[in-house]
Amino acid sequence: MKPLRVLVLMHPDFVPPESSKGYSEAEINVWKTEYDVCSTLRSLKHEVKALGVQDELRPIRDALDSWKPDIVFNLLEQFHGEAIYDQNVASYLELIRVPYTGCNPRGMMLSRGKDLSKKLLHYHRIPVPPFAVFPRGRKVHRPARLTLPLIVKSVNEDASLGISQASVVETDEKLKERVAFIHEQIGTGALVEQYIEGRELYVGVIGNDRLRVLPVWELDFGSLPESAHRIATEKVKHDVGYQEKRGIIHGPAKDLSPQLRAKIERIAKRVCRTLDLDGYARVDFRLSADNVPYYIEANPNPEIAKEEEFAQSAAHAKLSYRRLLTRILQLGLARGRMMGIGAEQ
Ligand SMILES: Nc1ncnc2c1ncn2[C@@H]1O[C@H](COP(=O)(O)OP(=O)(O)O)[C@@H](O)[C@H]1O
Ligand SMILES: [Mg+2]
Repeated sequence: MKPLRVLVLMHPDFVPPESSKGYSEAEINVWKTEYDVCSTLRSLKHEVKALGVQDELRPIRDALDSWKPDIVFNLLEQFHGEAIYDQNVASYLELIRVPYTGCNPRGMMLSRGKDLSKKLLHYHRIPVPPFAVFPRGRKVHRPARLTLPLIVKSVNEDASLGISQASVVETDEKLKERVAFIHEQIGTGALVEQYIEGRELYVGVIGNDRLRVLPVWELDFGSLPESAHRIATEKVKHDVGYQEKRGIIHGPAKDLSPQLRAKIERIAKRVCRTLDLDGYARVDFRLSADNVPYYIEANPNPEIAKEEEFAQSAAHAKLSYRRLLTRILQLGLARGRMMGIGAEQ
């Protein structure tokens, strides 16, 4: 690929330094994705500008006009502090006709509403846990089709915000308490779902039209106390010290029969097609004891730090980090060309 000018959009707090030398592990952890992406793109001879964006679109417009990038690398996960606004930034890039990496705004919208995505997938007979939504202000009354235990989540937040051991409820009283917590503390509607006891599997998918599935990945909860539910809480996901203490690691999923593996891969592709996801995405499942892969959520533009699940599963399939980022750029440019925008490659 010829060298490109790449404008990388990110949260202003995560704009990385040129070098990670002299920073502690905890400090690096804050901006490691942004650092990995910018430094690797530079090592591939691309010209890179990191731009912090949060409350205004004008800086994007100014950078596009003055610097004329070939493509925007979209690492934004929110705007105005709202997770659901990230799709609007992709829409803006689409409207001003600039090629950008990752998912299109329709895919983001369909997958972000966790209830909406499950309704669409259920129609296509993809196994989803039974669920109900309790909007803010609505009284909590458990429908008969939902049996305890249940898990209570925000209907559209991500990164395990509001997910802790208390999210899994075994009584109606605890259910009411936890729904109130989501309404009041997280400030969104609550999604109440059948709790699926089982393994936690992640499947990376890359592509716009032709989809490539990466090896099925598993989060191993290590030595969590016997009484603890094996779920990806905020602590499990983000607390490096806790991960080390409890031996929480991720790696290729072992002991899946070839048929089951093929089924999971097929479902992951169907999820991406149904939800209009393109670029790169990670589809998350819980595999029940009777080997049903229940869809939990799809993440457009998933976390792509070098050491995280997506890039590691790519590396396991011999797609190095450098080649992965190159592929992501190519997909962004190819989508642009399909719409008649962007430079020739
Ligand atoms: N229905 C479910 N059954 C069992 N565990 C679940 C279920 N839904 C979510 N979880 C656990 O909670 C974690 C976070 O839920 P998820 O819907 O992926 O929210 P987020 O967008 O915050 O990542 C999952 O990775 C999984 O460990
Ligand atoms: Mg998740």
